[in-house]
Amino acid sequence: MKVISMYFSPTGGTKKIGEAIGEELAKQLSAEKITYDFTLSDKRKISYAFESSDIVVFGTPTIAGRVPNVLLKFLDTLEGHGAISIPYVCYGNRNYDDALIELGDILTAKGFENIACGAFIAEHSFSRILAAGRPYEKDLGEAKNFAEKIAEKIRNGERGIELPGNRPYRAYYKPIGHDGKPADIRKVTPKVNKELCIDCKVCAQVCPMGSIDYDDVTTMVGICIKCGACEKKCPTGAIFYDDPNYIKHRGELEEDYPMRKENLTCL
Ligand SMILES: Cc1cc2nc3c(=O)[nH]c(=O)nc-3n(C[C@H](O)[C@H](O)[C@H](O)COP(=O)(O)O)c2cc1C
Repeated sequence: MKVISMYFSPTGGTKKIGEAIGEELAKQLSAEKITYDFTLSDKRKISYAFESSDIVVFGTPTIAGRVPNVLLKFLDTLEGHGAISIPYVCYGNRNYDDALIELGDILTAKGFENIACGAFIAEHSFSRILAAGRPYEKDLGEAKNFAEKIAEKIRNGERGIELPGNRPYRAYYKPIGHDGKPADIRKVTPKVNKELCIDCKVCAQVCPMGSIDYDDVTTMVGICIKCGACEKKCPTGAIFYDDPNYIKHRGELEEDYPMRKENLTCL
């Protein structure tokens, strides 16, 4: 029996939760623990096939209330072969909307059997104050308690789970722009302050889309999903977003969702 923590995690929140659940689950079940981190684009060129004895803790961030659509093609290549799965999503204190039900449905369609699921809070990709620092110790403790209950469910041979959300899934969440109409921020890209940039290449190395030109980090060579990895991991704070609709949306999120939200676990 193997427990596999598998996740996409540009700024590390989804990773922390997946590792906490996976490690505790492996401990409880005396199973081998491994990790498949598919954050970087090279890792999404590999095909992942599982066995019915595998237990896969599978996480993605919520993007616009859904599973990140840039991952859909990759997710379609998974082969569950009856492996047990625990889908979970992380979200930045607004809402996970239909991300969790969508992820659970994808895993079912790919031959996994969902037996538990969860939605956990992680610092918002756009902000340093929205759910700042989460998941922190208390969240990780909750993730471990969740793992203990999953282990008990597995030991008792229990199955079945109700995924929370709507079918058909709600449309991708869109912020409201300066003109009062839904804003499309998909084409927004980060800027580099050349005076602060030390050309260390960290941004190019951490971009999950491989979209920052290694030779000239001020140039984008692919799409940007605004995951915040380059901005938050830049050691000199040289990366920033200045798009007016992006900034308006960030401000509204910070203003509208200041309250601490609780993690959700379903068994
Ligand atoms: C483009 C984009 C859209 C997002 N949409 C939502 C959302 O609809 N609801 C929400 O609460 N958080 C949203 N977030 C925040 C992330 O879900 C959250 O920061 C996260 O789970 C980060 O995971 P990571 O630390 O593993 O990268 C969004 C983030 C990005 C980049």
